[in-house]
Amino acid sequence: MRLSVIGCGYLGAVHAASMAELGHTVVGVDVDAHKVELLSRGMAPFFEPGFEEVLRRNVDAGRLTFTTDYAAIAGAQVHFIGVGTPQLDTGAADLTYVDAAVEAMLPHLGKCADRPEIVAGKSTVPVGTAARLAESIAPTGATLVWNPEFLREGFAVKDTLDPDRMVYGLPADEDAAVSAQAVLDDVYRPILEKNKPRLVMDYATAELVKISANAFLATKISFINAMAQICDAAGADVTALAGAIGLDDRIGKRFLRAGIGFGGGCLPKDIRAFQARADELGVGRALGFLAEVDRINDAVRHSVVDTARRMLGEDLAGRRVAVLGAAFKPDSDDMRNSPSLDLAAEFAELSASVVVMDPAAGPILAARTDLPYQITESIEEALTGADLVVLGTEWKQFTTFDPARAAELVSRRNVIDGRNSLPREAWKAAGFTYAGIGRR
Ligand code: UGA
Repeated sequence: MRLSVIGCGYLGAVHAASMAELGHTVVGVDVDAHKVELLSRGMAPFFEPGFEEVLRRNVDAGRLTFTTDYAAIAGAQVHFIGVGTPQLDTGAADLTYVDAAVEAMLPHLGKCADRPEIVAGKSTVPVGTAARLAESIAPTGATLVWNPEFLREGFAVKDTLDPDRMVYGLPADEDAAVSAQAVLDDVYRPILEKNKPRLVMDYATAELVKISANAFLATKISFINAMAQICDAAGADVTALAGAIGLDDRIGKRFLRAGIGFGGGCLPKDIRAFQARADELGVGRALGFLAEVDRINDAVRHSVVDTARRMLGEDLAGRRVAVLGAAFKPDSDDMRNSPSLDLAAEFAELSASVVVMDPAAGPILAARTDLPYQITESIEEALTGADLVVLGTEWKQFTTFDPARAAELVSRRNVIDGRNSLPREAWKAAGFTYAGIGRR
């Protein structure tokens, strides 16, 4: 099938390459000429394990092209929208890019010989957006479906080609819904053949499935971080607690890792946008707990500075702090809303001498000249002379680093494990004063 994908960020570029991997002929469109050039040459503009391989294979096979020209979408049967929905100052989602994408698509829709032609929204949007967009595209004869994406950075290709479920938000008109569903089934045939659940619903429910899933995940993380505070106060261990409650299937083990909290381009903005939309709908109180989820997430980052003060004394000025990690999570170079970078900035603000190391995000930071901290290329360099080591992102390089070697490099043996991921006993055995989150 001929497909187009509008927006070539983490979501769109991975979706485009994955659809080509399924055998479709795909054109990706983005307004960023530099990104388009890189992608066209089979080069990933961001760090995502496994992505470049799939990208290059399909670019080389001639199934996958990228352009800045919207006219290239004409004639494709399905057009996916994967542009960003960042956060406005009010907390609400900024739909500028979604609206601009639809506007730019309109003149090129209705030119496909195969019927029906589908526009499939994948971006995370406030509930009600799909119904509004459906009206704008109706005159072109194309049908809108809402087909949210649940991929995680770091596992993006796998999550796209082997998802937990597929969600189709279909139009109210039954005939339109049936034929749109058949087209999407054709697109995703190889995935559906793996017996993946395919759930069919209306637009509003599909939009809400996506945002409520992220709200639930954020709540789970803040729940365990709240338990971490209780554990700290009561002298208990949150990792043992999480392991024990997680064995109850109804609770589940995953997303119960206490630490310096959730960051990235999705969870933080999505809970705020969800709250803002609920306020607009007059049911803001129903989501009042999300403000608390946000507050706990913010507080846990700042608690690291308190721990540092207990270790080094009230005045952190001139103390050398090695922050391991800058990306919001391992296997990514994404630093949007990154807890570890926030920490680095907070220590720098307190006049500590901060050194940051990150295997993927480090080179991006190194190119900047406006940072209040230093960037190093190696872990050794970061640790040398440190009064305090802070693990902010649990890259494997950090969690497997030999604590005995670290002990030789640092000035003072203090470590704060912001992700509860270091082998605690080994660090202690190497002479470090160890503090985790909720593991007093
Ligand atoms: C998240 C969701 O997990 C995806 O399902 C969703 O599709 C995506 O947002 C999106 O809306 O596009 P992602 O932002 O890639 O994916 O990252 P996560 O793996 O969810 O991690 C988010 C943050 O939570 C990270 O900073 C991570 O370190 C933190 N986290 C995660 C914890 O602090 N504890 C945990 O137990 C798990």
